[in-house]
Amino acid sequence: MTQNLTLNNGIEIPALGFGVFQTPPAETTEAVAAALSTGYRLIDTAAAYGNERGVGDALRESGLTRDDVFIESKVWISDYGYEETLHAFEKSSRKLGLDVLDLFILHQALPSAFDATIGAYKALETLLAEGKVRAIGVSNFMIEHLTALLEQTTIVPAVNQIEVHPYFQQRELRSFAAERGILTQAWSPIGGITSYRPDSAKSTFTDPVILEIAGAHSKSAAQVMLRWHIQSGVQAIPKSVKPARIAENFDVFDFELSADEIARIDALDTGVRGGPEPEVITLETFGREIPED
Ligand SMILES: NC(=O)c1ccc[n+]([C@@H]2O[C@H](COP(=O)([O-])OP(=O)(O)OC[C@H]3O[C@@H](n4cnc5c(N)ncnc54)[C@H](OP(=O)(O)O)[C@@H]3O)[C@@H](O)[C@H]2O)c1
Repeated sequence: MTQNLTLNNGIEIPALGFGVFQTPPAETTEAVAAALSTGYRLIDTAAAYGNERGVGDALRESGLTRDDVFIESKVWISDYGYEETLHAFEKSSRKLGLDVLDLFILHQALPSAFDATIGAYKALETLLAEGKVRAIGVSNFMIEHLTALLEQTTIVPAVNQIEVHPYFQQRELRSFAAERGILTQAWSPIGGITSYRPDSAKSTFTDPVILEIAGAHSKSAAQVMLRWHIQSGVQAIPKSVKPARIAENFDVFDFELSADEIARIDALDTGVRGGPEPEVITLETFGREIPED
């Protein structure tokens, strides 16, 4: 059994999805196929991941109808600006082999070129009006970026996809978004980014509190973290290339965390992000060309 959340324009989105960041292009079709056969109905990819083609192939090979699966992708910063982002949609649409995307979002705010960020978002508004995307949103926007965006554009983003896991919870930003009808999507929802770090002894997967709660429910640390997101109203998109983990991460609809267990996980926040500070994202540091095909 799974469940859906409703975006601010009435579109439904699965509460639990599947991410493919760092999934090599050659392994993407297989991983997404495993996810779809497990029951996931939301796939999160991005132009910058270089694996949109594999997502589209898995969808076509799955035998599922297009309406059964929610496909989300992201525009990379090198394609910001109004015309450039309209063209970025054509590139993503072509690679995915889909005329319509369910959710298309800006991958990052570009604080040093915010006019181009606004131009990119206005292109998303045009794509929405034309029916080429069913919902639009942003990723890695902080309160100041959302505030500036809301002042200069018309459509309130449906989502803000940000780093959220027990060690970095972004509560103020999540409340700000929720008050404006913006759904928070959690990237690195099981703290994958904490285990990529050199000090990976401090990984969410080996956290004693999470492991104790997991033991009490005969579940894994990952399952407890995903349950924490679901019960907190945060949409999560865990990634794995391993079929057993793909299945494990979806097997989270048959147990419930108590209020006390939720509070204990809430208390694990360190306030330290694993990903880059949004302010350091510039075309010079992170820009790179997104190929046409
Ligand atoms: N918008 C953004 O800027 C942004 C940034 C990062 C990520 N994302 C999105 O969010 C998705 C998830 O984030 P993420 O991939 O960084 O982190 P994650 O889903 O929290 O963790 C993934 C990592 O954990 C491992 N893993 C998966 N399931 C596990 C389990 N049950 N037990 C132990 N280890 C497990 C995976 O390895 P194996 O694959 O080997 O199983 C991988 O190393 C991405 O795929 C992407 O779609 C977006």
